[in-house]
Amino acid sequence: CGIVGIVGKPAREIILSGLKNLEYRGYDSAGIYLNDLAGHEYLTKAVGRIANLEEKLTPDEQGLVGIGHTRWATHGKPTVDNAHPQFDETNRFYLVHNGVIENYRELKDKYLAGVKFKSDTDTEVIVQLISKVARDEKLDAFTAFKKVLKEVRGSYAFLLIDNTEPDHIFIAKNKSPMMLGLGDGFNIIASDALSVLDQTKKFVDLQDGDVADVTKDSYKIETIDGEAVERTPHVLDIDPNAASKGTYEFYMLKEIDEQPGVMRKLSQDYLDVNGEPVLDQKIVDAVSEADRLYIYAAGTSYNAGLVGKEFFEKLTGIPTEVGLASEVGYHFPMLSKKPFFIFLTQSGETADSRVVLKEANKRGIPSLTLTNVQGSTLSREADYTILLEAGPEIAVASTKAYTAQLAVQVILAKAVGEKLGVKAAKDFPLKKQLALAAEGMQQIVDGKAKFDELASDYLIKSRNAFYIGRGIDYAVSLEGALKLKEVSYIQTEGFAAAELKHGTISLIEKGTPVIALINDPVTAELTRGNIREVESRGAHVISIVSHDLAQAGDTVVLPKIDYLMSAFLTVVPAQLLAYFASKNKGLDVDKPRNLAKSVTVE
Ligand code: G6P
Repeated sequence: CGIVGIVGKPAREIILSGLKNLEYRGYDSAGIYLNDLAGHEYLTKAVGRIANLEEKLTPDEQGLVGIGHTRWATHGKPTVDNAHPQFDETNRFYLVHNGVIENYRELKDKYLAGVKFKSDTDTEVIVQLISKVARDEKLDAFTAFKKVLKEVRGSYAFLLIDNTEPDHIFIAKNKSPMMLGLGDGFNIIASDALSVLDQTKKFVDLQDGDVADVTKDSYKIETIDGEAVERTPHVLDIDPNAASKGTYEFYMLKEIDEQPGVMRKLSQDYLDVNGEPVLDQKIVDAVSEADRLYIYAAGTSYNAGLVGKEFFEKLTGIPTEVGLASEVGYHFPMLSKKPFFIFLTQSGETADSRVVLKEANKRGIPSLTLTNVQGSTLSREADYTILLEAGPEIAVASTKAYTAQLAVQVILAKAVGEKLGVKAAKDFPLKKQLALAAEGMQQIVDGKAKFDELASDYLIKSRNAFYIGRGIDYAVSLEGALKLKEVSYIQTEGFAAAELKHGTISLIEKGTPVIALINDPVTAELTRGNIREVESRGAHVISIVSHDLAQAGDTVVLPKIDYLMSAFLTVVPAQLLAYFASKNKGLDVDKPRNLAKSVTVE
């Protein structure tokens, strides 16, 4: 979900524009509360996109203070009643919330018997409780808020307005991101600084357990217990244009096209002229000391980790495990004597990954976060961070963050391998290979028309599809399948090529698209055999094959690159096929239904 609040400036357009920038975080309903500080207040909510909310607002609904929210439903369906802001039965308090309150039922049963609820949300319980505490105990809003928070368990970023003192916005943060932006004569609060960069670049990162009382020209941060907290503001050095779509119809294509540039930037920033990695030596030392690496992530980042395992094992000789963060958080695997944890997370906010990191910290396991967002939660809480430097990724389906994760992993693997004296690492011409990756990606995106055609001819009418591959190609098959299904709604599975015949081949019918990836010289012929098996059962095969292994009749021949680096190139056709399948089906490519880009709930 996304949150924007502002005090001290005409609020409506700023909130709406901020919410639109945040739509990628959830978009099944939205709402806004405005107060003109002259006795008028307005609450409007709508199901669906921000545009629907905009349509509902009448011209006179304006305010000098306001809070807005775009929702990704967790408790209760996406309806107007369940949309935020939620308010109490006396119509005094208005609350927007990101996160999940774990003990909302308990709180409701214990304190709110007899209160009539309008929504099914956990959030309404909190706003009703604040109201009741303020009323019964004759407390001001900030004091009542803090009192209630002491009893709340779960994750939250809250903005609260009390219409008896409407020139204040009250904030609370725990496990969900929240930034306070400082302006001249106004202050603005957002769950993602990027969404309000046109207003200010000066931000205070609120930390877990912080509460704040914000007016147009002041702010006060405290702990829930009322102790004053100092947080130093910092200036975010981001070009607001980096987050704009320019001439592109969709961010996803813009971000696919940016990948060659990201590869060059990473090579420039993390490799010296001789191709030697320039990473923080402390990180290289810490990883080198490990007897086993454990990579944890979710979604696309997990798929990037599967490729990372190959880099680490080949170049460092350190055994590497990859796990889904959500599966590991509460059931840790048996660990080696000297484990080192690596977290891959584009956003740096994924709650599932954070659970693992917290447990690692508790056990004193050293950790590194690879993330695209400086100052994000997982970056702050891990011992070390390496930034992906991919620039803001806005499309929900991750593309350039995936390839940036590959690049940073292989650079780290080379650095660690060299430190450990591993010959494969010393011999690996990484700078040249990254240059080949950038050039190859450029060639592929320049030829994107081909994927537009392939998607129209073979994918968009299909109900389902398969990706198959072995080795690194299997890892990319999983990512290719995820990409295609998440944006085009064509049910797609990624398979180890040989596994298809052990059951799933029964799903192959006439015309079923099977996208076969072939980069591994050792198993290429075997995968060719698997292609023949599905073709003879009617499948339509799209083969994506490395330069050296290509044969007459292959659909796509990839530019030249070492097998170890093949994922950098193989994934791009997969991204383009997904993009065009979605676009040619007339779908909203950047915002697939039900998904959110940054998932801060477990
Ligand atoms: C969400 C997004 C996915 C993403 C995953 C992990 O589910 O929709 O695209 O891969 O979270 O996100 P992270 O920010 O941790 O990489």
